[in-house]
Formats: sequence, C-alpha cells, structure tokens
Amino acid sequence: MMTPGKFIVIEGLEGAGKSSAVSAIKTVLNHRDIPFISTREPGGTPIAEALRDIVKQGMANEHVCDSTELLLMYAARAQLVETLIRPALANGTWVIGDRHDLSSLAYQGGGRELGMAKLKAIKQIAIGDFEPDLTLYLDIEPSLGLSRARQRGELDRIEQQDLNFFERTREVYLQQVAEKESIMLIDASQNMAQVAASITAILIQYVDNI
Ligand SMILES: Nc1ncnc2c1ncn2[C@@H]1O[C@H](COP(=O)(O)OP(=O)(O)OP(=O)(O)O)[C@@H](O)[C@H]1O
Ligand SMILES: [Mg+2]
Repeated sequence: MMTPGKFIVIEGLEGAGKSSAVSAIKTVLNHRDIPFISTREPGGTPIAEALRDIVKQGMANEHVCDSTELLLMYAARAQLVETLIRPALANGTWVIGDRHDLSSLAYQGGGRELGMAKLKAIKQIAIGDFEPDLTLYLDIEPSLGLSRARQRGELDRIEQQDLNFFERTREVYLQQVAEKESIMLIDASQNMAQVAASITAILIQYVDNI
C-alpha cells in the first residue's frame, strides 16, 4: 500500500510570515524529492476561494454575522479537505497548508469569542477527526504582525479588527501549543533568515524521523 503523505500546516497572526515560511518548507521537501502540493485557507479550490472572497471582503451594506463567518470558514474547509487534501495524502503527496483548522479555533473561537465547545462541534461535523500531522505556529505580537501586514498593502475585513481581537486570537494559539505535541512554536519576531532557519531545522528533523 502507498505510504500516505503528511499534512504540514503553517499558522499565525496577520503578518507573522506564513507565506514566507511556506517557501522554506518547499525548499526542504524539494531537496528530499518529496512530492507535495500547497494550499491556503480559507480557499484552495474554486468554491472555497469564492467563500474566501466573502469572508475577506464582506458584501457592501451587509454585515457578516459571526456565526455566518464561522460556517463559511468550515464550508470552505470541508470542500478543500474532501476534494484536495485527503486525495493528495492518500496518493502519497504531501500537503503544505497556509492556515487550517487551528486558525478557526483561534480567530472564531478566541477572536470572535464563540468559544471552544462550539468550535469543536462544528469541526466534527465539517471534517471529523481530520488533523494535520505537523503544525508550525509563528508566534508574534499582534502589533508587530499588523505593522508588517500594513506595509504589504490594504488590510482586509478581518485584518481591520482591533488589537484586543488579535490578543484573544493569540491566546488560543498559545493555549493549543501547550496542549498539543504536534504544534511547534516558532518566534516570528526574529528576522526572516532566522525564522526560515528555525523552520528548516524543524522540517529536516521531522522528515528524517519518519
Ligand atoms: N521575520 C520577518 N521580519 C520582517 N519582515 C517579515 C518577516 N516575515 C515576513 N515579513 C514581511 O512581512 C510581510 C508579511 O509577511 P507574510 O505575507 O509572509 O505574512 P503572512 O503571515 O503570510 O500574512 P497574512 O496572514 O496576511 O497572509 C511581508 O511583507 C514579508 O516580507
Ligand atoms: Mg500569507
């Protein structure tokens, strides 16, 4: 039987450096000749990308309710997991995810204060027990991350939340790091070369220990 691929996820607040981290992971996998695809959430399939636009931009003259945002995130995730991630893994291809379920726990559960019980219930309905094999969480002070994100361009609907929102989001991230061995914390306040070096070291160790 084919050895299943591994699902590696990058997590963190706005401007933590997730997109940059994905490049460091790709470099390691390419060096080892490991086949992979990369995705982002919300998004990654045509339907999920359409849902992403609603979540990120909203709609003129209509407020996105918190529970609507939650369900849109999970609708996008269910579509991505079923049509892309699971089939890839089953066929031995690794998947690099720019965000996954932990983002919802943190942003909708913490930031929006919907709470862990609600999040766990909806996760179960949407994707069951599906979990990443390894998560790299890029930890950063919200103000520093947002200042980096701002330099890159206009802030979207979620990026425009106040600092308290991101403090609550970060708290859930840190709580989950403490609870789960499959989540590694990386200090994302380091410079880009240092962050990339930390990611590369973790990945090499992970790949070599399979
Ligand atoms: N360690 C770092 N030090 C300084 N600047 C950084 C660092 N990492 C990334 N940046 C810069 O900060 C900006 C945001 O980085 P990036 O897009 O990788 O973050 P992100 O986590 O993907 O953000 P988003 O959540 O908005 O997708 C970019 O302009 C990037 O070049
Ligand atoms: Mg990004």
